[in-house]
Amino acid sequence: MAITLSVIKADVGGLVGHTNMHPDLLGEAHQFLSAAKERGEIIDFDLLAVGDDIDLLITHDRGENNAEIHKLAWDCFVACAEVADTLGLYGVGQDLREKTFAGNVTGLGPGSAEIEMEDRPSEVVLVFCADKTSAGCWNLPLFKMFGDPFNTPGLVIDPKMNYGYSYEVFDLVQDRVADLTLPGELYDLLALIGSVEKYGIRRIRRNIDNAVAVCTSASKVYQVAGKAIGKDDPVMIVRAQSGFPSVGELTEPFAHPHMVAGWMRGSHWGPLMPVKFEDAGMNRFDGPPKVICAGYQITKGKFIGPVDMFDDPAFDGARREAIEIADYLRKMGPFEPHRLSQSDMEYTSQPKVLEKLKDRFRPATSPVEVKS
Ligand code: 13P
Ligand code: 13P
Ligand code: MG
Ligand code: MG
Repeated sequence: MAITLSVIKADVGGLVGHTNMHPDLLGEAHQFLSAAKERGEIIDFDLLAVGDDIDLLITHDRGENNAEIHKLAWDCFVACAEVADTLGLYGVGQDLREKTFAGNVTGLGPGSAEIEMEDRPSEVVLVFCADKTSAGCWNLPLFKMFGDPFNTPGLVIDPKMNYGYSYEVFDLVQDRVADLTLPGELYDLLALIGSVEKYGIRRIRRNIDNAVAVCTSASKVYQVAGKAIGKDDPVMIVRAQSGFPSVGELTEPFAHPHMVAGWMRGSHWGPLMPVKFEDAGMNRFDGPPKVICAGYQITKGKFIGPVDMFDDPAFDGARREAIEIADYLRKMGPFEPHRLSQSDMEYTSQPKVLEKLKDRFRPATSPVEVKS
């Protein structure tokens, strides 16, 4: 039987600003999904949290983009938002952009990543969840995992991986996709995905049989009241082993913290710090951007795990390096390149400030200038 893993996430309210998750929200989500499991609507579920985001992990047999599963997740977030409201948490219902559900959570505010998986004797899956960053934060690690033989020796020595992988590149602004096949189109792929604010990666498929290896929550950026919705705080599902990269080939790209867009007010570059579940609070300058990784075996649709993959001193070096980069960048305050470039600031509240200043400009050759 094919099993679908759906990871659907939203921020429905933060505990002290945008920094952490209130346990009662997870309690509510647990109760809500337990009831759905008892009714036989889903096979199993698990919950993760990073910063102010809740991640619902659901297994079922209804395929991808299923309206009932998406409605279940939506209703679960609405119930959690009610709890957040009672507690007076910050930004209640932040990612519930529309007031009513309309068929699929995509475009309504929550993010989703889903893979329907054919039966494997042992299904190994990693779920990555990040806060204070955007879809393009996965571009560099996904390139390394599935495209770089210096990271992933399986590309060289595993006969199923040796034909390479194809990337579905998502144009985050214009809502369109392009497929590029590695290794042949390696340079073209990099030409696109090096622009992390413009392009994300939606899926990766194995060339030998088209099996889906990766799905991320990349979706079009919707701008609502000066805030970008739909690019925030991404998740991804990555399958491992037996013709996919090994677990270690998938965690290795996070051994060095690369720079991602997001952090304070969604307006700053910062290092993506791999952390264990209990360190996933955003307590310094609303960050720094952090990523957690949960490893599961999925057996007949049941979650066996998780293993907290970054709970390992082997990632202490990455954490130290991230703090050094954060210290360096913070000294720049509101100056680029700590602050995002002017074009990327369009998705923040900064244009309102610039609007106020637009009448202050006069031609550089105006009389006042000439006289003085
Ligand atoms: P598999 O081919 O069984 O996935 O093994 C590869 C591996 O895990 C080596 O580290
Ligand atoms: P979130 O997108 O995680 O809610 O954070 C918003 C923010 O402005 C942090 O400073
Ligand atoms: Mg928030
Ligand atoms: Mg968030």
